[in-house]
Amino acid sequence: MADEKAKLLIKGKTIDLDVLSGTLGPDVVDVSALFKEGCFTYDSGFNSTAACESKITFIDGEKGILLHRGYPIEQLASKSTFLEVCYLLLNGELPNKQQEEQFRRTITHHTMVHEQIHYFFNGFRRDAHPMAIMVGVVGALSAFYHDTLDIKNPEHRTISALRLIAKMPTIAAMCYKYTIGQPFMQPLNRLSYAENFLHMMFDTPCAESHINPVLARALDKILHADHEQNASTSTVRLAGSTGANPFACISAGIGALWGPAHGGANEAALSMLHEIGNVSQVGKYIARAKDPNDNFRLMGFGHRVYKNYDPRAKVMRETCHEVLEAVGAKNDPLFKLAMELERIALEDDYFVEKKLYPNVDFYSGITLSAIGIPANMFTVIFALARTVGWAAQWNEMISNPYRLGRPRQLYTGPKKRDYIGITDRS
Ligand code: ACO
Repeated sequence: MADEKAKLLIKGKTIDLDVLSGTLGPDVVDVSALFKEGCFTYDSGFNSTAACESKITFIDGEKGILLHRGYPIEQLASKSTFLEVCYLLLNGELPNKQQEEQFRRTITHHTMVHEQIHYFFNGFRRDAHPMAIMVGVVGALSAFYHDTLDIKNPEHRTISALRLIAKMPTIAAMCYKYTIGQPFMQPLNRLSYAENFLHMMFDTPCAESHINPVLARALDKILHADHEQNASTSTVRLAGSTGANPFACISAGIGALWGPAHGGANEAALSMLHEIGNVSQVGKYIARAKDPNDNFRLMGFGHRVYKNYDPRAKVMRETCHEVLEAVGAKNDPLFKLAMELERIALEDDYFVEKKLYPNVDFYSGITLSAIGIPANMFTVIFALARTVGWAAQWNEMISNPYRLGRPRQLYTGPKKRDYIGITDRS
């Protein structure tokens, strides 16, 4: 409900606009009726524009707060499993014991993929980027589940979400196995969600390895489950607003996630560390990041929303140290370099003044690398973890009244002019 009105004075006319309040966060001015008055709003990059109403995730970037359904990320990360967080995001409440067991059983029993999906992989080159494979295979899932593609049916929506969450680790591991030429591993129902992923990534038909519980717990904590209306989630919502099926929408989200300004940052951060090479070069690269004439940026630093420490980065930093300890990599030169870069950037005036802190991807990249996961798989793992957020946000949109997403523009091209025949053109 509108509690108060804002007044916009434009071309001598005053227009009253509703001001809406949420439970947390800034009020929003409802400008949806402005077009009837002959004007649009302009907000390139969506700095000040709320595109939807949501009850799932809240972020206060200035204070470094992230809540899922009201629960702080720090509490969820230390006390719950990834699947509990999935249940919370999808259903609005944490599961009780019985609900948790049922949910875990359902996810576990949907982890296998249809045998025909295996043939999709053969169409890709072995050196294809795993994200290229992921984007294609997830979109292709819509060809397998015609039975549950009625987006107006809540039961169909739930089954699609569960299928996606269950099958993403299997597909992600298949993307990896394909690129290294090893046979695909089937999921094992006796393993947890994270253990199963490690099994499908690193075991072979000849050898089942011991799964280190510290590494499984670290993967379980990868804190990407949801992050309100970021670029990929907004892409999923926009695609969903056309009535497209959830597999197609999430495939669109995976495409948006791929870029280095978003989910591709963890891979880019590791490449940057390799490029910097050793601790003696840190100063040179910090200077390049600060030079306005050099387009080099410190990857894994800065965030559109957080102007404080990303609360996920705080948790991930601890997890990163636990994993480095567990795999005996504390003295690895690359990780020493990462810690030195973090130390210098946190003290440097440029980064302090612009509030550029290491983001979650700086630490998740180092953590995944220590687990033995190659850099080109980092964004795939981000997509795996974010699938629940995409599914929850898509479901929330479809379950409520919504309209086709169709942004406007500020047109700056030529005015109307008459066609010139080809022989008359200069
Ligand atoms: N290194 C050096 N300078 C930076 C960095 C960086 N990583 N990030 C921002 N800046 C500077 C910009 O040059 C700009 O300076 P100016 O005001 O003098 O022009 C200022 O800080 C503001 O930066 P913008 O790009 O305008 O901020 P925006 O909110 O659009 O960008 C972004 C946020 C894209 C994340 C940016 O910080 C960046 O490119 N970071 C590196 C990539 C990265 O780590 N992305 C992961 C984001 S987290 C996630 O998706 C899970």
